[in-house]
Amino acid sequence: MKKLIIPALLIIASALLVAFSTGEPGEKSAEAQPEKPAPAYVGARKCKVCHLDIYKSWEKTKHAWAFSALNDKELEKPRCLACHTTGFGRGGYGGKSAVASLGGVQCEACHGPGSLYSRSSVMRKPELGLQMGLVRVDSTTCVTCHNSESPTFKGFAFQAGLSAGTHSRKRNKPD
Ligand code: HEC
Ligand code: HEC
Ligand code: HEC
Ligand code: HEC
Repeated sequence: MKKLIIPALLIIASALLVAFSTGEPGEKSAEAQPEKPAPAYVGARKCKVCHLDIYKSWEKTKHAWAFSALNDKELEKPRCLACHTTGFGRGGYGGKSAVASLGGVQCEACHGPGSLYSRSSVMRKPELGLQMGLVRVDSTTCVTCHNSESPTFKGFAFQAGLSAGTHSRKRNKPD
């Protein structure tokens, strides 16, 4: 009898060990956290309300008109839409967004989808904005489109592109 009790205890002990070791530490608390809402695309008109000067200068760039570079057939091609619209395949153009007019390279193609950060209270604190989908724009942002996947690609120079291709740098007047 005694000979059986010890192995039996060992089995129980190891079963308990297994029971306690499965399940990552902290798994519960991660589950309990509410899911972060994903930022959605709101369209350049939303940004225009507060960034009128920037909007007007952006409107004069090729980015704003990148949609009209495509003919009717090309407007059906996901490959072309990926770089000639805002947020294609990521809930933007043609996706879940409620905004119909996301054609062209709009503000959010560079700055990130704006539904969560485009409030003055958030915008005045860029660090908070970054947590809510605002992107710190640098050359890596540009080369997601300015690369050899583009049928017309002939190279890309970031600094020259910055001055030619984005918009004025006029900040909002503090109110
Ligand atoms: C309700 C007004 C409002 C709306 C709408 C708004 N912004 Fe702003 N935004 C501000 C204010 C105020 C600032 C801080 C002052 C400034 O930089 O002009 C700011 C700052 C910024 C900055 C600079 C952040 C930094 O790093 O300093 C960016 C980029 C920006 N906004 C992009 C956008 C984009 C893109 C949209 C549209 C999706 C948008 N904003 C919509 C008010 C707004
Ligand atoms: C092709 C990319 C691109 C597009 C499109 C674009 N921006 Fe920007 N934006 C930049 C870059 C680059 C900067 C400078 C770096 C930074 O602040 O992140 C900038 C800076 C800003 C700033 C801060 C101003 C400052 O003095 O630094 C605001 C505000 C802003 N953009 C708003 C907008 C709005 C509104 C639109 C649409 C009307 C827009 N941007 C479209 C690339 C872009
Ligand atoms: C979402 C894709 C996308 C992103 C991101 C993007 N671009 Fe562009 N860019 C385009 C497309 C598409 C065109 C061509 C538009 C046309 O000719 O109709 C273009 C055109 C340009 C042009 C004009 C080129 C010419 O032939 O005159 C400049 C300059 C430029 N981009 C600079 C930038 C810079 C700088 C950045 C990053 C801060 C950037 N772009 C980010 C898609 C993008
Ligand atoms: C990887 C991103 C990307 C893809 C994919 C893409 N384009 Fe573009 N397109 C650009 C950029 C960036 C420019 C600006 C010039 C350059 O650097 O190629 C541009 C410029 C253009 C221009 C204007 C050229 C000029 O001289 O002004 C046309 C037309 C065009 N693209 C058509 C298309 C068509 C049609 C497709 C699909 C078969 C397509 N693009 C796919 C990024 C892209």
